[in-house]
Amino acid sequence: MPTKILFNETDDNEPGELLTVKGKRPVRYYPGTHQKMTDQVHQFVQSQDDTIGNVKFTYKAARFEEGWLLDSLGGFYEHAWISDVIKRVKGGKEASVYLCQAGTEVKADLLAAKVYRPRSLRNLKNDHAYREGRIDLDNEGKIILDHGLEHAMAKRTDYGKNLLHQSWIAYEFTTLQKLYEKGVDVPQPFEMAGNAILMKYIGDIDSNAPALSELSLKKAEACELFDRVIHNIDLMLSINCIHGDLSAYNILYWEGQITLIDFPQTVSPTVNRNAFNIFRRDVTRVCEYFSKQGVRTDPQAMAADLWVKNKNKLHPEVDIRLLDPEDPQDRAFWKSHKE
Ligand SMILES: Nc1ncnc2c1ncn2[C@@H]1O[C@H](COP(=O)(O)OP(=O)(O)OP(=O)(O)O)[C@@H](O)[C@H]1O
Ligand SMILES: [Mg+2]
Repeated sequence: MPTKILFNETDDNEPGELLTVKGKRPVRYYPGTHQKMTDQVHQFVQSQDDTIGNVKFTYKAARFEEGWLLDSLGGFYEHAWISDVIKRVKGGKEASVYLCQAGTEVKADLLAAKVYRPRSLRNLKNDHAYREGRIDLDNEGKIILDHGLEHAMAKRTDYGKNLLHQSWIAYEFTTLQKLYEKGVDVPQPFEMAGNAILMKYIGDIDSNAPALSELSLKKAEACELFDRVIHNIDLMLSINCIHGDLSAYNILYWEGQITLIDFPQTVSPTVNRNAFNIFRRDVTRVCEYFSKQGVRTDPQAMAADLWVKNKNKLHPEVDIRLLDPEDPQDRAFWKSHKE
């Protein structure tokens, strides 16, 4: 009997470890051989897996993309959530979006699969402003309560970075669910697994819905759509949700309707000290686009009105419950506020 199974992908091979295979001389393993072994393991695993190995998607991925596409969407295929990947809609630094044919287990025709690249999600160093007050979620969208895991995330260990990455994806999915239920104009979310989200596709088989940023609108339509976007922002705020990266780039337009997309960085107005600034920036960016289309806007007043209407403090950054007495900046802020 072999003392060690050669093809366990998850094994961490220590340098100098002895590998013994039946009928063969024991081999001492060195790190340089790792890549070769990983490739062999991968081939082996794929050849063992009849279902995924035989998947023939219409979309022919480039070689480098093929592996992670199968890793990411193979499960969706197995669950019959999708029956085909038709084409790539958009490839980005952080995520790629694919047009898929829905499988028998999902009541839809065309679906968009947003697949995040492994751990390159956001610049994790700069995500602090968004993450403040946020509850971290695991790969099933459940709250992470384990202190060891929290510590790993805080310390940015490799494992912790993976968890953070996962948390962004789960955040986008659970936010979509919450917003969809509330009646916000977002794509209906269907499933989440691993590093991918499945949602309703906006567009048709020939072309995906353009973003507002790609379009010039007639003034009358622009006025109507502006009201609709503001209605959405208001509705979101009423359930403690601020988009955080809203602009004409993240609003799709299809057959006269708008759809808000791209939600991994939403923040809550009640627990994030930067919330009002983030909110005002969202409103300002939206206004910038619509004022170019001839709509009269006043972003500052509008942001303040919406904020007050939803009973949030105009300056959440002075909420003393959120200040850290150990932090010199927070202390200075508190002092200036008292004065
Ligand atoms: N549900 C959808 N239906 C149709 N197209 C979509 C859908 N979701 C996303 N897209 C397309 O994919 C693009 C990228 O999606 P998204 O904005 O969610 O990802 P992203 O990682 O933030 O990319 P970017 O950095 O380009 O904004 C969108 O601009 C849009 O063209
Ligand atoms: Mg986007």
